[in-house]
Amino acid sequence: MNPLPRRDFLATATLAAAALAAAPALGQSAPAGKARLTVGLIGCGGRGNGALTDFIAAAKLLGREVTVTAVGDAFAPAAKGAAKRFGVEASKAFAGYDAYRKVIASGCDFVVMAAPPAFRPLHFAAAVEAGKHCFIEKPVAVDAVGARAMREAGERAKAKGLGVVAGTQRRHQAAYLINKARIDAGAIGDIRGGTLHWNSTVPWIKRRNPGESAADYLARNWLNFTEMSGDHIVEQHVHNLDVAIWFLGRPPVSAVGYGGRARRETGNMFDFFSVDYDFGGGVHIHSQCRQISGTWSRVGELFTGASGEAFGAGKVTGRKVDVPEPRLESENPYVQEHVALIKGVLAGNPPNETRAVTDSTLAAIMGRLSAYSGDLVRWADLVDNARSPWHGQACSPAAADFEKGEVRLPEEKPPVPGKA
Ligand SMILES: NC(=O)c1ccc[n+]([C@@H]2O[C@H](COP(=O)([O-])OP(=O)(O)OC[C@H]3O[C@@H](n4cnc5c(N)ncnc54)[C@H](O)[C@@H]3O)[C@@H](O)[C@H]2O)c1
Repeated sequence: MNPLPRRDFLATATLAAAALAAAPALGQSAPAGKARLTVGLIGCGGRGNGALTDFIAAAKLLGREVTVTAVGDAFAPAAKGAAKRFGVEASKAFAGYDAYRKVIASGCDFVVMAAPPAFRPLHFAAAVEAGKHCFIEKPVAVDAVGARAMREAGERAKAKGLGVVAGTQRRHQAAYLINKARIDAGAIGDIRGGTLHWNSTVPWIKRRNPGESAADYLARNWLNFTEMSGDHIVEQHVHNLDVAIWFLGRPPVSAVGYGGRARRETGNMFDFFSVDYDFGGGVHIHSQCRQISGTWSRVGELFTGASGEAFGAGKVTGRKVDVPEPRLESENPYVQEHVALIKGVLAGNPPNETRAVTDSTLAAIMGRLSAYSGDLVRWADLVDNARSPWHGQACSPAAADFEKGEVRLPEEKPPVPGKA
């Protein structure tokens, strides 16, 4: 981190608040006259509670108070807990796989979405349809079909003047913004390659309760099933892939990878991946992610240029270039991303990060598909080439199956590529 001094943040925040107090609120939602912003929450777990707290903090920095109109979760205790925390009346704490519909219909202007990734395309499409400004946690899909649906809904959001910001918070973090600006200014020359790491531990596992439905087990233990999370290359390592795509300014052309499962105790995911991403023009980025306790840990990015090296958020060698400090209202990127959303919406200039987060999600899915199958997987096959078998690749059960009550538990064993 290379944060701005606190007094600069405060000065910027005060100026922004003054400017916004006078500015009309535009967009399909959030009409000008409203003194308070209204927001609903879908997915009341760790990040849902965190993201809503950050949304409220961001609004405060911009001189606005917030009313939380409703909260929704698959499970009643989580919804009730969030309702209590955010002062929402009990009748507006919705539980079940259709809770998202009730949250979206609760009269809010903004929706914060933090259910497991498999549900994001369904929830986002419904929120856009209803004209809501959206904060969407990453990743935003678990398969190519869902990613393309996200892209399309993102375009519809743009056409409706809706703001969309994603939980890829590095794009709102001073140290990353400064290094991106330095690289763009030629500090290390053209990027020729790099390495990405998210080597860490398994965050958590949950076991199936006696008599528990397949749907509820999947929704609770979502972090260990590919159909729910996309696997950890998608769910977690997407952050590092997002930085690579952002810094290079283009998505990868293809991926060849491998991986496997050595230690994971539930679900059907791998616990390690090693993927070579070909970004075209001779640029290869090596991505490595692992969730195994007691192994070497590192989370970050390193880019090698023609005349120097740059860490994503750390040291830059090569030519010294001066770049302006980014003007941020908060040194906390988890708050700053909501500032970007609210500020843009209120100023009539709504941001739309859907395409960026979807491309990063898709790149991660591409790496997973390569490791699961043992094949080289091309970007074009996931995005454009409808005749490719990869194009229609969709996980089952799908999000909609949960509402219909048609969920079958996938086998709790990981895929094995190739032949004996
Ligand atoms: N940006 C970041 O740094 C960051 C950090 C952590 C998590 N995340 C992302 O946030 C999302 C949530 O992660 P988390 O850590 O809060 O997980 P969590 O398990 O703590 O919370 C997920 C919540 O969603 C609920 N849920 C499950 N299915 C649902 C459905 N169909 N509708 C509504 N609610 C449903 C669960 O009951 C749970 O309460 C994930 O996409 C994750 O990748 C992002």
